[in-house]
Order: sequence, then structure tokens, then C-alpha cells
Amino acid sequence: MKKIFVTGGAGFIGSAFIRLVLEETPDIEIINYDALTYAGNLENLQGLDATRHRFVKGDICDKETVLRNLPEETEAIFNFAAESHVDRSISSASEFVTTNVLGTQILLDAARAKNVVRFVQISTDEVMGSLPEDDAAVFNESSPLKPNSPYAASKAAAEHFVRAARETFGTDTVITRCGNNYGQRQFPEKLIPLMIANALNDESLPVYGDGRNVRDWIFVEDHARAVWLAYAKGKAGGIYNIGAKNERRNIEVVKAILDALGKPHSLIKFVADRPGHDRRYAIDAALAGNELGWKPQTRWEEGLRKTVNWYRENQDWVNRIRNGAYRDYYREMYGAGLKSL
Ligand code: NAD
Ligand code: DAU
Repeated sequence: MKKIFVTGGAGFIGSAFIRLVLEETPDIEIINYDALTYAGNLENLQGLDATRHRFVKGDICDKETVLRNLPEETEAIFNFAAESHVDRSISSASEFVTTNVLGTQILLDAARAKNVVRFVQISTDEVMGSLPEDDAAVFNESSPLKPNSPYAASKAAAEHFVRAARETFGTDTVITRCGNNYGQRQFPEKLIPLMIANALNDESLPVYGDGRNVRDWIFVEDHARAVWLAYAKGKAGGIYNIGAKNERRNIEVVKAILDALGKPHSLIKFVADRPGHDRRYAIDAALAGNELGWKPQTRWEEGLRKTVNWYRENQDWVNRIRNGAYRDYYREMYGAGLKSL
């Protein structure tokens, strides 16, 4: 059995990645290392094969605990652990610097100390900033890093430390930069699960600004598969953009959710814009296609239907989150007066 060390595996994308690896790769054993912040959820790991998956509660910023739990000559570290929400980084950036930058450096040091074979950093298209609206421009791997939010800045900084480890110490690194993920088990502060959860409760749907910002959406399982292929087939030092050529304006996404649930568009409420709100993301994933043999498998209509159905069938999952870790933040962001609180 080969061992891999996955950080942030109790979150949205990390848990989808672990599910995929356990299902499709019989000779892999996973150590899932996660601090269980507000976004980490052990319910996301229910039903996993316990003989090949071991959960360890730990912080990537805690060097001793990382070293104690990282086996010598682990095949790969997959670093999904992060503070991941842009709005939270605008309210308070320091946790983003700590986890996303310092935490990544601590993992890079540990990888070197334990002779880890490959380090895979899960980055984001947001490091490349914003594209002009109604334009043919797309992000590719040579696009300059121009992060606009504190979250994006912390992820760009992390990328620089990954690059520095490769240049300075010869660490075998791969970086993936994906666009906006959607799918089951996404924390209900992000656009799609927030809108589904609000619509199910007949609460208003807060759309920032004019709602015409564009995101390039990808189903989470397609991203998970791309990360695996980047590990298995990517060049040392490689950077791979991951996207499904699925640009949508926010307002179009929100209306599609309301239509899928049979709810009226009158639930939409335009609210103040996000400061520094990136206008448009669009990803050219040709390199991942050519070098990794990756292509997305889930069409938007199918992925959105699966996602809406999952949230409809798992309203208890959302309510447990809303009544716990998410409650104060939700009140602060959207005010009281929403029925479920
Ligand atoms: P998430 O917020 O759902 O999960 C993050 C996980 O990391 C949680 O389980 C949390 O407990 C854990 N974590 C946070 N701080 C930690 C720490 N200090 N030590 C150990 N664990 C810690 O995030 P997600 O949406 O699943 O994103 C996963 C990764 O993918 C992140 O690195 C993010 O930047 C990147 N990414 C996300 C998207 C997206 O659309 N969500 C797109 C591209 C890239
Ligand atoms: O592009 C990849 C990134 O996508 C990831 O790196 C981040 O971790 C992930 O959070 C996501 O960032 P965004 O800021 O694009 O995602 P979010 O779901 O917060 O917002 C998507 C769009 O919807 C954005 O234009 C802001 C808008 N929005 C969001 C919320 C939460 C609203 O209009 N209303 C809302 O209530």
C-alpha cells in the first residue's frame, strides 16, 4: 500500500478527492489531516473505507504534529487545507496568512524532512486576478499573478513558497489552479449552496452588485480527478489550470437554482457589492488536457441537478451547520430576519 497525506480532507473538495481515490485506486492508503475549523465536517467522511482511510485532527501550522503524523517516504502530500472563503478574508485576513501561507511552508519543510516523493498544492484561478467582461481573454499558466482579495493574495503567496521549495531544495512539486467548484457537501456560505439553502427556506437570495460577475464553474468530482492526474502524470514543477469551459453570470446561476426548485425569482435581492469584487474568471485548461489527459465529465445541467437534489435531500446537514459554527457569521453577513435563524 502506498501512503498519501491529504490535508483539509474534511472539507468540501478534500472529502470529494478522498472518496474518488478510495473508489478508484485500490493500492492507496490515506492519512486525512484536518484541523476541523468551522468548514471541516466529519459528516463529510461518513461511509469511507476505514481500512484505507485514517482521520487525524491536526493543524498544518503545528509543525510537531505534522511531523509526528507524516510517514517517512509518503508518496505525496495533497494540500487542500486552507481558509477558503473570500468574504471572510475581507473581514479578517490574518487567519488566511497563517493557514494558507505559513501552513503551506510548514508542510513543505515536513515534506523535505520526511523524504516525501511529491508535493501537490491545490491553488486557485483567483491568484491570476480578474479578466475583463465580455472579452475573449482567458487565464492560462503564463498569466501573471495579480491577486485582488486577501484570500487570493494568501494563495498566491503559498504558490511562491512552493516554487521556492522547488528552486532551492529541488522538492518535486505540482500546482493546480482550479475555478469555482460546486457539488455536494460544499459549505453553505459559498454562492451555490447558500442560494439553494435559502431558496429551500423561502428566504431572500443576496446577489452582490449587479449580479453580472462571471465565474467558470466546475463539478467537484471533475476537479478531484484533475488533482489526482496532476499528481500521477504532471511534470515536476508543473502548474495546471483546471476548468470546464463553463462561464456563467451569477444572476444566471441563481435563476437556474430557483427554476430547479420551482421557486419564484422574486426571492432574489440585490445587495451591496463585495469590495474589490473580481469581475470575471475564465480558464484555459488545454495543458491539463494535453499533458494529463484530463477532461471534465459532468455537464453543468447534470451537475447542478445533482447538487440541488443533494441539498434538498440533506437539509439536516445544512441546518446542523447553520445552527452551529455558521450562525454568528451568517447573522453578521446577512442580518437577522432570515427565517431559519
Ligand atoms: P473548505 O473551506 O470546504 O475546506 C477547507 C478544509 O481545510 C476544512 O476541512 C478545514 O477544517 C481545513 N483546514 C482549514 N485550516 C486548516 C489548518 N490550519 N490545518 C488543517 N486543516 C485546516 O475548502 P474547499 O472549498 O474544499 O477548498 C479546498 C482547497 O481548494 C483550498 O485550498 C482552496 O483554496 C482550493 N480551491 C477551492 C475552490 C472552490 O471553488 N471551493 C476552487 C479552487 C481551489
Ligand atoms: O475561483 C475559485 C474560487 O472560487 C476558490 O478559490 C474559492 O475558495 C471559492 O470560495 C470561490 O471564490 P468566489 O469568491 O468566486 O466564490 P463565492 O461562492 O464566494 O462567490 C461566487 C460569486 O457569487 C462571486 O462573484 C460573489 C457572488 N456572491 C457570493 C455570495 C456568497 C453573491 O452574489 N452573493 C453571495 O451571497
